[in-house]
Amino acid sequence: MSELIWLNGETLNMSDARIGVEDRGYQFADGVYEVIRLYNGRPFTLHEHLARLERSARGIELFVPVELKTLADEVTKFISRAGVRNGMIYMQLTRGSSPRNHIFPDASSTRPTLLFYARPLPPVPAPGAGEGVKLWPVVDERWKRCWVKSIALLANVLAKNAAVSRGYDEAVFVEDGFVSECSASNIHVVKHHTLVTAPPGPKVLGGVTRDVLLKCAADCQIKVEQRLPSEAEVLDADEVFITSTTREISFATHWGERTIGENKCGPTTLALHHLMLKRITEDAK
Ligand code: PDD
Repeated sequence: MSELIWLNGETLNMSDARIGVEDRGYQFADGVYEVIRLYNGRPFTLHEHLARLERSARGIELFVPVELKTLADEVTKFISRAGVRNGMIYMQLTRGSSPRNHIFPDASSTRPTLLFYARPLPPVPAPGAGEGVKLWPVVDERWKRCWVKSIALLANVLAKNAAVSRGYDEAVFVEDGFVSECSASNIHVVKHHTLVTAPPGPKVLGGVTRDVLLKCAADCQIKVEQRLPSEAEVLDADEVFITSTTREISFATHWGERTIGENKCGPTTLALHHLMLKRITEDAK
C-alpha cells in the first residue's frame, strides 16, 4: 500500500502531495509541529497533543485552521485508512505559501498549510531493558521560546549530530550550570526518591509524555520538584532518565564520560515506566 498523507483536508498518496516553494515553513521555519504515538491503531494522548499544537501556534501568532475536535476526528479516520497500528503521526502547521516577505501575509488571503501522515515505529524496549542512553552535554544555543514546538529545529539538529557523531545517543542542553532538556526529549533526575523535572518555559518544551509521567509519579506517591536541575545535581543523581513520545522512558547511563548513578535502570525509573505502560495499555484497548 502506498503511503498516504492528509494535506489541508484531502487524503492523498504521499508521492502526489505538493507544497509551494514559497511555503513559509520552507523559507522561514514559520510553523509548529506535533509527534503523536500510535499504539494498537490508537493515537495516545491525542487531545493533549492537539491542545499543545494550538498553544504553540498561538505562541507564533498563528491559528489552527480546523476545530480541534474536527482535526481529532480526521486523525482517527486517517489512521484506519493508513493502516499503521504501531508508530507515530507527524503533524505540521505552517503559515502557508505567499510571496517571500518577513512580514506576516494577510491571514484572510493566505491559508495555513496543515498536514499529517503516519509512520510505523519499532516497539519501545520494555522497562529497564536495553542499553540505556548516553547523554552528551552541549551549550544551549536555542531561542527563548522552547515551550513552542517550533519546526525551527536547527540548533537541536546540530546538537543531536554532535552527540551521535561522538558515539552518544542524545544531546542535553546546559546553560549557566542548569540543565533544561535534550534535543528531542525531556530530562528528569531522581535523588533520594524525589523526582526533579523542569516545567515548560523559555528553554523547556512541555512534554506530553512528561505530563503522563507526572500522573504516574502521583500514582506511586513520588515527591516531585518542578524546577531546572543543576548539572552538579545530575552528576550526583541516583537515577536520570529522559522521556518523549517516541521513547516513553529511557534510562540514562552516561553524562559525557561520567557514569550516572549505578550505570543501570534504577528502581524509580523502572516503577514509573511500568505505570506509564499501564496507562498506555489501558488507553490502547
Ligand atoms: N520531540 N523536548 C524537545 C525539544 C522535544 O523535541 C520533545 C519531543 C520533547 C518531549 O515531548 P513529548 O513528550 O511531547 O514527545 C521534549 C519529538 C518526539 C520529536 O521531535 O520527534
